[in-house]
Amino acid sequence: GKGIAVFTSGGDSPGMNAAVRAVVRMGIYLGCKVFFIKEGYQGMVDGGGNIEEANWSSVSSIIHKGGTVIGSARCADFRERAGRLKAAKNLVDRGITNLVVIGGDGSLTGANLFRQEWPSLLDELLSTKQISAEQREKYKHLHIAGMVGSIDNDFCGTDMTIGTDSALHRIIEAIDAIVSTAYSHQRTFIMEVMGRHCGCYLSPCASTYVISTGFKCFHPWVAKFIILFKMDNDHPALDVVQSLLESLPDCVGPDEDVFSDSQERSAGQRLNIIIVAEGAIDRDGEPITAEKVKQVVVDNLKQDTRITVLGHVQRGGSPSAFDRVLGCRMGAEAVMALMEATPETEACVVSLDGNQAVRLPLMECVERTKAVAKAMADKQWEKAVQLRGRS
Ligand code: F6P
Repeated sequence: GKGIAVFTSGGDSPGMNAAVRAVVRMGIYLGCKVFFIKEGYQGMVDGGGNIEEANWSSVSSIIHKGGTVIGSARCADFRERAGRLKAAKNLVDRGITNLVVIGGDGSLTGANLFRQEWPSLLDELLSTKQISAEQREKYKHLHIAGMVGSIDNDFCGTDMTIGTDSALHRIIEAIDAIVSTAYSHQRTFIMEVMGRHCGCYLSPCASTYVISTGFKCFHPWVAKFIILFKMDNDHPALDVVQSLLESLPDCVGPDEDVFSDSQERSAGQRLNIIIVAEGAIDRDGEPITAEKVKQVVVDNLKQDTRITVLGHVQRGGSPSAFDRVLGCRMGAEAVMALMEATPETEACVVSLDGNQAVRLPLMECVERTKAVAKAMADKQWEKAVQLRGRS
């Protein structure tokens, strides 16, 4: 059977274990020899006990666990050819010519580069007598299937990355918790949510926040920040937020009814919560930090203000049902893609399109993701939205 290895790379995300489990079991079911590579690319470079054959039961009881049980790393060695040469040797030694990569766009790009370089890496291994001519011939093609595991939901081509839904649940729980203490005081609460440069944190889910938390929402769908807030009472804080928003990029407009008399306000509720995304920036590209927002509130309202940074809490914890199912479906599809690959097949990324698992050309999606980031850096918001498409 074919040699397949699965590894997780970059920041972990809930649902990665479901994907690993699916790869192992689907691979074994189809008669492959399946390996774990522990600690991401670092394990591939270091070899030894980091590359271990998996069996059916080695993935028992992991589907409900958060993070990744096979470990992940951000690896500097793999960025160098010398590191990739070692990695190639480790794979050839074990007869692995199929890789399933679960990670963000950086990890997927690295895999594609590795694939392109593969023939020349094998040539070098042959010329330095580290592999035989027979091995050079037998393992001459490397096949790659990627899956996007990230809470950031910042990858073009897939509607949801593995982990997004769980992180959303965590945020909602945190907001609900803050709400109860916020209701008890006359304070403003600011919550910073994680999402790297994708300040539009969980962008396709922004509306879900709004629905599920009752928050009002200001967000450019694919711009570099999202600010959601809930301000009841006819509170001067609204003006402060309004002026804050005025400093934000042009495409941001308030929901129409945000500043109108809402039912909550006229009912005299007392909730002031502002949610700021980690990657928020203003019109000039300057970061909008929770501290800055606090300063605006304190200076203008003289109001007691507290900040909560959700940070890695948001990335941890057990995966939601959605992410478990997503990981399973993506993992199985990735193995199918490898089974059907021919020498000419390009590296693919398994994506969610509507409710379908589909295979898309890996590099095309990476390029689009990069183009969105560039458009945002250039403050071309409309272009970013267009490039990003519905995901
Ligand atoms: O990409 C996932 C992510 O959690 C981002 O949301 C965040 O900015 C970053 O990773 C944090 O990285 P680290 O875990 O290395 O601190």
